Amino acid sequence: MTAAAPPLNVAIAGFGTVGRSVARLLCDGRHPGLRLVAVCTRRPEAARRDAPWLAPEVVWTSDLDGLLAQRAAVIVELIGGEEPARAWIAAALRAGRAVVTANKQVMAEHGRELVSLARASGSPLRFEAAVGGAIPVIRGLQDGLAGDRVTRIAGVVNGTCNFVLGRMSGAGVSLDEAVRDAQARGFAEADPAADLDGLDARAKLSILTAIGFGEHLPPGRIPAASIRGIDAGDVAAAASIGRVIRQVAWADRPGREPGGIAAGVGAALVGCDSWLGRARGPENVVLVRGERSGTTVFAGQGAGGGATAVAVVSDLLALAHPWSVPRPWPAPSTAGAPADVARPHYVRVSRPEAAGPHTPPRLLEGAGIELDRILAQPESGGARWAALVRPCRRAGLDRALEPLLSAGATGGEFITLPLVDLDACPETEAA
Ligand SMILES: NC(=O)c1ccc[n+]([C@@H]2O[C@H](COP(=O)([O-])OP(=O)(O)OC[C@H]3O[C@@H](n4cnc5c(N)ncnc54)[C@H](OP(=O)(O)O)[C@@H]3O)[C@@H](O)[C@H]2O)c1
Repeated sequence: MTAAAPPLNVAIAGFGTVGRSVARLLCDGRHPGLRLVAVCTRRPEAARRDAPWLAPEVVWTSDLDGLLAQRAAVIVELIGGEEPARAWIAAALRAGRAVVTANKQVMAEHGRELVSLARASGSPLRFEAAVGGAIPVIRGLQDGLAGDRVTRIAGVVNGTCNFVLGRMSGAGVSLDEAVRDAQARGFAEADPAADLDGLDARAKLSILTAIGFGEHLPPGRIPAASIRGIDAGDVAAAASIGRVIRQVAWADRPGREPGGIAAGVGAALVGCDSWLGRARGPENVVLVRGERSGTTVFAGQGAGGGATAVAVVSDLLALAHPWSVPRPWPAPSTAGAPADVARPHYVRVSRPEAAGPHTPPRLLEGAGIELDRILAQPESGGARWAALVRPCRRAGLDRALEPLLSAGATGGEFITLPLVDLDACPETEAA
């Protein structure tokens, strides 16, 4: 598709948490190659009043026929549940429309039927958002690791359970209290049964087995144990041995014979510092083990309207740009040097005595840089000095320590390094 090509017309079925977020992304001007032309929801008049930010030319309807009549090239199914979602996807594919869905239930139970239908009708069917919210784990398995034979898929794929178990260990609250907290923050449904009892996680695992193993384990064949029985004592006992409790979904395929998959969903004690143990709040983590690639980790925001909408829109963009030759490489950026922002720093001086009266603490004090704490140093025969300083700009810090250089220290004997937390992740928004 060239820049002059007309935009891809998109119709959304379902205007709830994810549907609204997708509509907002399509309307904010960032994706000129995608045009929202119609929305289907049960009460279109009320929904239209609640969404004055949508372009007036968008057509509102309450049924699939009304949506298909708009001649959108892609139908985005976001009504959820098994029926009529399955029937709508099938009808859209039969009508020659591409379909993008976030529906894990439909894909886990009816993926085979729908993908066969898509192939027969020559219409694409994409479902990245069905597993792991914004995390591109379907694409990662389907494309990125296609060259390997996957032997294990394991993950924390239900953000609600992860939030609940995290609250139980972090705030010491009961499971019921943690569930109420999750509901208040929009991380849990009014009826959290599918999450707590492992049904949501096993639907996602079922999809991952089909994509990763090339052998589908239907949800009903994956044993799922509820996390409801876990209490504060269990959480404390796990902590006493350096572990946390997580709802883990796992599938192993050690051998090459068909049918040799073992899988399950349930609470397990995992290491605090393991990938699964480090998933916080509604974050998801999926570990994929391949025969030659070893372990690949997919991690990020696994739920929420905004994160899930990103996966949906990425699927739409993939349909709008079916590149068989590389995309154009972008023009050089006009960006300048990065701003020198104030951060805490580590400072190490190998021979502080070389600067005579200009001791490092004095130099820092003279520049108005606050010492946080002195750090213990290995015995090295000299008076090596190291400390942490409170947030300051690096240029100012280096300037303050310049007298050490003029006193004969070399670059290697005086070092300043920022403390950075680039992997810190703000809590995802609820909707
Ligand atoms: N929320 C998340 O964080 C998340 C994350 C990943 C995947 N997903 C998946 O994304 C899909 C949508 O989830 P959601 O959270 O956005 O659900 P939601 O908030 O319940 O929204 C569903 C929307 O679909 C409409 N709808 C349902 N049945 C309909 C029908 N027969 N005809 C017309 N409209 C109908 C609902 O209308 P009413 O309001 O009138 O019922 C509502 O507007 C689901 O498959 C879900 O599993 C969600």
